[in-house]
Amino acid sequence: MSVAKKDYKRITVKSLIEMKANNEKIAMLTAYDYTMAKIIDSSGIDVILVGDSASNVMAGHETTLPITLDQMIYHAQSVIRAIKRCLVVVDIPFGSYQSDPKEALRSAIRIMKESGGHAVKMEGGKEIKDSIKRILNAGIPVMGHLGLTPQSIYKFGTYTVRAKEEAEAKKLKEDALLLQKLGCFAIVLEKVPAKLAKEVADSLTIPVIGIGAGNGVDGQVLVTHDMLGMTHEFNPRFLRRYMDLFNGMTTAFSQFIDDVKSLDFPNEKEQY
Ligand code: KIV
Repeated sequence: MSVAKKDYKRITVKSLIEMKANNEKIAMLTAYDYTMAKIIDSSGIDVILVGDSASNVMAGHETTLPITLDQMIYHAQSVIRAIKRCLVVVDIPFGSYQSDPKEALRSAIRIMKESGGHAVKMEGGKEIKDSIKRILNAGIPVMGHLGLTPQSIYKFGTYTVRAKEEAEAKKLKEDALLLQKLGCFAIVLEKVPAKLAKEVADSLTIPVIGIGAGNGVDGQVLVTHDMLGMTHEFNPRFLRRYMDLFNGMTTAFSQFIDDVKSLDFPNEKEQY
């Protein structure tokens, strides 16, 4: 079903805030390379997130912690070369902003200068407020990330739903308000109860983009490799698979192998 929406030539951080005000939902997907970013941007996506989930889906690490700032910049450069319309947000990776605001600003500046990304994303609330402030003061737009914050996975211990208890829900609401007050242009809310996510979205003027946060928020984000069914061992309830590329690609690769072995490929028309 196609949904009526304003025809933005280029999406900016301002467009996203306007979309929320106009009740238009925001669609965000991850990309880490040129080809995928080109396809996603051509499809009309609002935001591409160069997520540190690249650590999992591109590099095969168990967590997002190992990916480096240099690697994130490399992925972001490839994405930026591909896009014409969408906003590109780049995750500041673990270990590049937690120690102090000066380090955080240095990392954000490197991302903006070396990749051409349009904004950065950071995980956390009150604990990183000075770093967020410093980055915003330098004119760099910041997207927050609350709820399940994968860079803190060893503190949480599991990837289960966050903020089910009152104390954590209260802190999350306070953090969301704080991020808005500091000047963040949007917040990702990951894996929290739908009712709480709606409450947070309703209390803010900046958009809340959910992943596993129900449909009462202002937009949705998925990891592209998951929604395309390229990863098939990851099956959270919130994940809708739009394709089964793992099986589709396996079939194509097997066919290629058979064709090569049987001398079916290349045929007369496929050679010079
Ligand atoms: O890194 C990432 O892909 C993310 C999304 C899950 C929001 O942060």
